[in-house]
Amino acid sequence: MQALQKQPETSARYAKAIEVSKRVRWDIERDVIRGRKFDFGKKFLPDGLSKIGRLDFLGADEKRLVSQIQGRTYANMFGLVERFIAPKVSEISRGHWLGDQTAFEALVRFTDEELKHQELFRRLERMTAADMPAGYAFLPQPNVVASAVLSKSTWAVLALICHIELFVLAHYREAIEPDADLSELWKDVFTFHAREESQHAILDEIEWQQEDARLTPAQRDTAVGDLIDLVAAVDGILQTQAAADTDYFVRVCGRVFDKAQVKALGEALLAAYRWQYIVSGVQDERFQKVLGGMVTEAQMKRIGAALAPILG
Ligand SMILES: [Fe+2]
Ligand SMILES: [Fe+2]
Repeated sequence: MQALQKQPETSARYAKAIEVSKRVRWDIERDVIRGRKFDFGKKFLPDGLSKIGRLDFLGADEKRLVSQIQGRTYANMFGLVERFIAPKVSEISRGHWLGDQTAFEALVRFTDEELKHQELFRRLERMTAADMPAGYAFLPQPNVVASAVLSKSTWAVLALICHIELFVLAHYREAIEPDADLSELWKDVFTFHAREESQHAILDEIEWQQEDARLTPAQRDTAVGDLIDLVAAVDGILQTQAAADTDYFVRVCGRVFDKAQVKALGEALLAAYRWQYIVSGVQDERFQKVLGGMVTEAQMKRIGAALAPILG
Protein backbone atom coordinates (compact mmCIF):
# COMPACT_ATOMS: atom_id res chain seq x y z
CA MET A 1 0.00 0.00 0.00
CA GLN A 2 2.78 2.32 1.00
CA ALA A 3 4.64 1.53 -2.24
CA LEU A 4 1.51 2.39 -4.24
CA GLN A 5 1.18 5.73 -2.49
CA LYS A 6 4.82 6.56 -3.16
CA GLN A 7 4.70 5.81 -6.86
CA PRO A 8 3.08 8.96 -8.31
CA GLU A 9 5.34 11.17 -6.23
CA THR A 10 8.48 9.36 -7.45
CA SER A 11 7.24 9.47 -11.04
CA ALA A 12 6.76 13.23 -10.71
CA ARG A 13 10.38 13.57 -9.56
CA TYR A 14 11.58 11.71 -12.67
CA ALA A 15 9.34 13.94 -14.82
CA LYS A 16 10.75 17.05 -13.18
CA ALA A 17 14.31 15.83 -13.83
CA ILE A 18 13.47 15.43 -17.53
CA GLU A 19 11.87 18.86 -17.72
CA VAL A 20 14.88 20.59 -16.13
CA SER A 21 17.33 18.48 -18.12
CA LYS A 22 15.69 19.71 -21.35
CA ARG A 23 15.67 23.32 -20.15
CA VAL A 24 19.35 23.51 -19.06
CA ARG A 25 20.76 21.32 -21.87
CA TRP A 26 23.97 22.82 -23.28
CA ASP A 27 26.34 22.21 -26.15
CA ILE A 28 30.11 21.91 -25.61
CA GLU A 29 31.17 24.33 -28.35
CA ARG A 30 28.18 26.62 -28.73
CA ASP A 31 27.51 27.27 -25.03
CA VAL A 32 30.60 26.35 -23.02
CA ILE A 33 33.80 26.85 -25.01
CA ARG A 34 32.59 29.46 -27.50
CA GLY A 35 35.98 29.60 -29.23
CA ARG A 36 37.72 30.68 -26.00
CA LYS A 37 40.95 29.53 -24.35
CA PHE A 38 41.88 29.27 -20.70
CA ASP A 39 43.28 32.41 -19.10
CA PHE A 40 46.58 31.29 -17.56
CA GLY A 41 46.91 34.65 -15.81
CA LYS A 42 44.11 33.44 -13.52
CA LYS A 43 43.46 30.54 -11.18
CA PHE A 44 41.50 27.45 -12.20
CA LEU A 45 40.57 25.67 -8.97
CA PRO A 46 39.37 28.11 -6.27
CA ASP A 47 41.25 28.42 -2.95
CA GLY A 48 38.29 26.87 -1.15
CA LEU A 49 39.06 23.59 -2.92
CA SER A 50 42.80 23.78 -3.66
CA LYS A 51 43.68 24.50 0.01
CA ILE A 52 47.00 26.06 -1.02
CA GLY A 53 46.71 29.10 1.23
CA ARG A 54 48.68 27.25 3.89
CA LEU A 55 51.79 26.90 1.68
CA ASP A 56 53.41 30.19 2.66
CA PHE A 57 56.71 29.45 0.87
CA LEU A 58 54.96 29.78 -2.49
CA GLY A 59 54.67 33.11 -4.31
CA ALA A 60 51.44 34.27 -5.96
CA ASP A 61 52.47 32.99 -9.42
CA GLU A 62 53.40 29.63 -7.95
CA LYS A 63 50.10 29.34 -6.11
CA ARG A 64 48.31 30.11 -9.36
CA LEU A 65 50.23 27.32 -11.10
CA VAL A 66 49.28 24.85 -8.33
CA SER A 67 45.65 25.91 -8.78
CA GLN A 68 45.90 25.32 -12.55
CA ILE A 69 47.48 21.88 -12.10
CA GLN A 70 44.80 20.94 -9.57
CA GLY A 71 42.13 22.34 -11.90
CA ARG A 72 43.45 20.20 -14.75
CA THR A 73 43.35 17.12 -12.51
CA TYR A 74 39.86 18.12 -11.31
CA ALA A 75 38.55 17.98 -14.89
CA ASN A 76 40.32 14.67 -15.53
CA MET A 77 38.89 13.19 -12.32
CA PHE A 78 35.36 13.86 -13.54
CA GLY A 79 36.15 12.34 -16.91
CA LEU A 80 37.40 9.31 -14.94
CA VAL A 81 34.38 8.83 -12.67
CA GLU A 82 31.95 9.42 -15.52
CA ARG A 83 33.42 6.34 -17.22
CA PHE A 84 31.69 4.20 -14.59
CA ILE A 85 28.72 6.49 -13.89
CA ALA A 86 27.37 6.35 -17.47
CA PRO A 87 27.36 2.53 -17.79
CA LYS A 88 25.98 2.07 -14.26
CA VAL A 89 23.08 4.42 -14.93
CA SER A 90 22.48 2.78 -18.29
CA GLU A 91 22.46 -0.62 -16.53
CA ILE A 92 19.97 0.39 -13.84
CA SER A 93 17.68 1.91 -16.47
CA ARG A 94 16.94 -1.72 -17.38
CA GLY A 95 14.78 -1.93 -14.26
CA HIS A 96 12.39 0.58 -15.91
CA TRP A 97 12.41 -0.81 -19.48
CA LEU A 98 8.97 -2.36 -19.25
CA GLY A 99 7.79 -0.15 -16.41
CA ASP A 100 7.80 3.61 -15.76
CA GLN A 101 8.77 5.11 -19.12
CA THR A 102 9.35 8.50 -17.51
CA ALA A 103 11.97 6.97 -15.20
CA PHE A 104 13.53 5.21 -18.20
CA GLU A 105 13.76 8.48 -20.15
CA ALA A 106 15.26 10.34 -17.17
CA LEU A 107 18.05 7.74 -16.86
CA VAL A 108 18.71 7.70 -20.62
CA ARG A 109 19.13 11.48 -20.55
CA PHE A 110 21.38 11.16 -17.48
CA THR A 111 23.57 8.62 -19.35
CA ASP A 112 23.68 10.80 -22.45
CA GLU A 113 24.75 13.83 -20.39
CA GLU A 114 27.61 11.89 -18.77
CA LEU A 115 28.84 10.80 -22.20
CA LYS A 116 28.84 14.45 -23.25
CA HIS A 117 30.65 15.48 -20.04
CA GLN A 118 33.39 12.94 -20.75
CA GLU A 119 33.83 14.45 -24.20
CA LEU A 120 34.02 17.92 -22.64
CA PHE A 121 36.68 16.84 -20.14
CA ARG A 122 38.76 15.13 -22.85
CA ARG A 123 38.55 18.36 -24.82
CA LEU A 124 39.74 20.39 -21.80
CA GLU A 125 42.71 18.05 -21.32
CA ARG A 126 43.78 18.61 -24.94
CA MET A 127 43.41 22.39 -24.48
CA THR A 128 45.40 22.55 -21.24
CA ALA A 129 48.05 20.17 -22.61
CA ALA A 130 48.64 22.55 -25.52
CA ASP A 131 49.16 25.56 -23.24
CA MET A 132 50.98 24.10 -20.20
CA PRO A 133 54.57 22.82 -20.01
CA ALA A 134 55.00 19.18 -21.07
CA GLY A 135 55.24 16.43 -18.47
CA TYR A 136 51.83 16.42 -16.78
CA ALA A 137 50.36 12.93 -16.42
CA PHE A 138 46.92 11.88 -15.29
CA LEU A 139 47.74 8.36 -14.15
CA PRO A 140 44.45 6.50 -13.45
CA GLN A 141 43.25 4.50 -16.46
CA PRO A 142 39.49 5.13 -16.84
CA ASN A 143 38.57 1.65 -18.09
CA VAL A 144 40.66 -0.13 -15.44
CA VAL A 145 39.13 1.97 -12.65
CA ALA A 146 35.62 1.63 -14.10
CA SER A 147 35.76 -2.15 -14.39
CA ALA A 148 36.98 -2.44 -10.77
CA VAL A 149 34.17 -0.13 -9.55
CA LEU A 150 31.49 -1.88 -11.62
CA SER A 151 32.47 -5.26 -10.12
CA LYS A 152 31.04 -4.06 -6.77
CA SER A 153 27.40 -4.27 -5.68
CA THR A 154 24.96 -1.80 -7.22
CA TRP A 155 24.11 -0.36 -3.78
CA ALA A 156 27.77 0.55 -3.17
CA VAL A 157 28.29 1.97 -6.66
CA LEU A 158 25.13 4.09 -6.38
CA ALA A 159 26.33 5.32 -2.97
CA LEU A 160 29.64 6.38 -4.52
CA ILE A 161 27.91 8.05 -7.48
CA CYS A 162 25.43 9.87 -5.24
CA HIS A 163 28.32 11.10 -3.10
CA ILE A 164 30.22 12.35 -6.17
CA GLU A 165 27.27 14.19 -7.66
CA LEU A 166 26.42 15.83 -4.36
CA PHE A 167 29.97 17.11 -3.88
CA VAL A 168 29.95 18.48 -7.45
CA LEU A 169 27.04 20.68 -6.38
CA ALA A 170 28.60 21.60 -3.01
CA HIS A 171 31.90 22.59 -4.68
CA TYR A 172 30.10 24.76 -7.18
CA ARG A 173 27.87 26.45 -4.60
CA GLU A 174 30.48 26.97 -1.88
CA ALA A 175 33.76 27.51 -3.74
CA ILE A 176 33.51 27.94 -7.52
CA GLU A 177 30.51 30.23 -7.91
CA PRO A 178 31.63 32.78 -5.24
CA ASP A 179 35.23 33.06 -6.56
CA ALA A 180 35.60 36.04 -8.92
CA ASP A 181 39.29 35.39 -9.70
CA LEU A 182 39.01 32.22 -11.76
CA SER A 183 39.71 31.73 -15.46
CA GLU A 184 36.37 32.61 -17.02
CA LEU A 185 36.27 29.52 -19.22
CA TRP A 186 37.24 27.18 -16.37
CA LYS A 187 34.49 28.65 -14.22
CA ASP A 188 31.95 28.36 -17.04
CA VAL A 189 32.80 24.69 -17.56
CA PHE A 190 31.90 23.87 -13.98
CA THR A 191 28.89 26.16 -13.97
CA PHE A 192 27.40 24.33 -16.96
CA HIS A 193 28.46 20.97 -15.55
CA ALA A 194 26.72 21.65 -12.21
CA ARG A 195 23.49 22.59 -14.00
CA GLU A 196 23.14 19.11 -15.46
CA GLU A 197 24.49 17.42 -12.34
CA SER A 198 21.65 18.82 -10.19
CA GLN A 199 19.22 16.39 -11.84
CA HIS A 200 21.69 13.52 -11.55
CA ALA A 201 21.93 13.94 -7.78
CA ILE A 202 18.13 13.70 -7.49
CA LEU A 203 18.00 10.57 -9.65
CA ASP A 204 20.90 8.96 -7.75
CA GLU A 205 19.03 9.40 -4.52
CA ILE A 206 15.84 7.80 -5.87
CA GLU A 207 17.65 4.89 -7.53
CA TRP A 208 19.89 4.24 -4.52
CA GLN A 209 16.87 4.14 -2.20
CA GLN A 210 15.02 1.80 -4.55
CA GLU A 211 18.04 -0.50 -4.69
CA ASP A 212 18.28 -0.36 -0.90
CA ALA A 213 14.66 -1.49 -0.57
CA ARG A 214 15.46 -4.59 -2.64
CA LEU A 215 18.28 -5.80 -0.37
CA THR A 216 18.19 -8.22 2.54
CA PRO A 217 20.06 -7.10 5.68
CA ALA A 218 22.90 -9.52 4.82
CA GLN A 219 23.19 -8.15 1.27
CA ARG A 220 23.25 -4.60 2.64
CA ASP A 221 26.00 -5.52 5.06
CA THR A 222 28.11 -6.87 2.18
CA ALA A 223 27.34 -3.71 0.21
CA VAL A 224 28.62 -1.54 3.09
CA GLY A 225 31.89 -3.49 2.86
CA ASP A 226 31.96 -2.79 -0.89
CA LEU A 227 31.47 0.92 -0.27
CA ILE A 228 34.39 0.91 2.18
CA ASP A 229 36.52 -0.85 -0.47
CA LEU A 230 35.51 1.74 -3.06
CA VAL A 231 36.48 4.64 -0.80
CA ALA A 232 39.86 2.97 -0.16
CA ALA A 233 40.33 2.58 -3.93
CA VAL A 234 39.51 6.27 -4.48
CA ASP A 235 42.05 7.17 -1.80
CA GLY A 236 44.69 5.06 -3.57
CA ILE A 237 44.03 7.01 -6.77
CA LEU A 238 44.32 10.31 -4.90
CA GLN A 239 47.66 9.33 -3.35
CA THR A 240 49.07 8.42 -6.77
CA GLN A 241 47.79 11.55 -8.50
CA ALA A 242 48.80 13.93 -5.66
CA ALA A 243 52.36 12.56 -5.95
CA ALA A 244 52.33 12.91 -9.76
CA ASP A 245 51.01 16.50 -9.59
CA THR A 246 53.57 17.48 -6.94
CA ASP A 247 56.33 16.05 -9.10
CA TYR A 248 55.05 17.93 -12.16
CA PHE A 249 54.84 21.22 -10.26
CA VAL A 250 58.38 20.88 -8.90
CA ARG A 251 59.73 20.13 -12.40
CA VAL A 252 58.00 23.01 -14.22
CA CYS A 253 57.89 25.68 -11.55
CA GLY A 254 61.30 27.10 -12.41
CA ARG A 255 63.05 27.10 -9.03
CA VAL A 256 64.52 24.58 -6.64
CA PHE A 257 62.66 23.51 -3.50
CA ASP A 258 64.27 21.81 -0.54
CA LYS A 259 63.19 18.36 0.63
CA ALA A 260 60.94 19.67 3.42
CA GLN A 261 59.12 21.98 0.99
CA VAL A 262 58.54 19.18 -1.53
CA LYS A 263 57.18 17.03 1.29
CA ALA A 264 54.88 19.84 2.47
CA LEU A 265 53.64 20.32 -1.10
CA GLY A 266 52.89 16.62 -1.50
CA GLU A 267 51.01 16.53 1.79
CA ALA A 268 49.04 19.67 0.93
CA LEU A 269 47.99 18.25 -2.43
CA LEU A 270 46.91 14.94 -0.92
CA ALA A 271 44.93 16.74 1.80
CA ALA A 272 43.30 18.91 -0.88
CA TYR A 273 42.41 15.90 -3.04
CA ARG A 274 41.02 14.01 -0.07
CA TRP A 275 38.90 17.04 0.77
CA GLN A 276 37.71 17.41 -2.83
CA TYR A 277 36.90 13.79 -3.67
CA ILE A 278 36.06 12.15 -0.34
CA VAL A 279 35.59 14.38 2.70
CA SER A 280 33.42 17.13 1.20
CA GLY A 281 31.07 14.45 -0.14
CA VAL A 282 30.73 12.26 2.92
CA GLN A 283 30.19 15.31 5.11
CA ASP A 284 27.48 16.62 2.78
CA GLU A 285 24.26 16.92 4.77
CA ARG A 286 22.08 15.39 2.05
CA PHE A 287 24.43 12.43 1.67
CA GLN A 288 24.58 11.84 5.42
CA LYS A 289 20.79 11.89 5.59
CA VAL A 290 20.26 9.34 2.80
CA LEU A 291 23.01 7.02 4.00
CA GLY A 292 21.91 7.33 7.64
CA GLY A 293 18.39 6.30 6.60
CA MET A 294 19.67 3.01 5.17
CA VAL A 295 22.42 1.64 7.40
CA THR A 296 22.49 0.46 11.00
CA GLU A 297 24.45 2.24 13.70
CA ALA A 298 27.09 -0.52 13.61
CA GLN A 299 27.46 -0.15 9.82
CA MET A 300 27.76 3.63 10.17
CA LYS A 301 30.55 3.05 12.71
CA ARG A 302 32.36 0.73 10.28
CA ILE A 303 32.19 3.40 7.60
CA GLY A 304 33.37 6.03 10.09
CA ALA A 305 36.33 3.89 11.16
CA ALA A 306 37.35 3.34 7.53
CA LEU A 307 37.19 7.08 6.88
CA ALA A 308 39.06 8.13 10.03
CA PRO A 309 42.60 7.98 8.57
CA ILE A 310 41.42 9.90 5.48
CA LEU A 311 39.66 12.59 7.52
CA GLY A 312 43.02 12.95 9.28
FE1 LIG B 1 29.02 14.87 -15.21
FE1 LIG C 1 26.49 13.41 -13.25
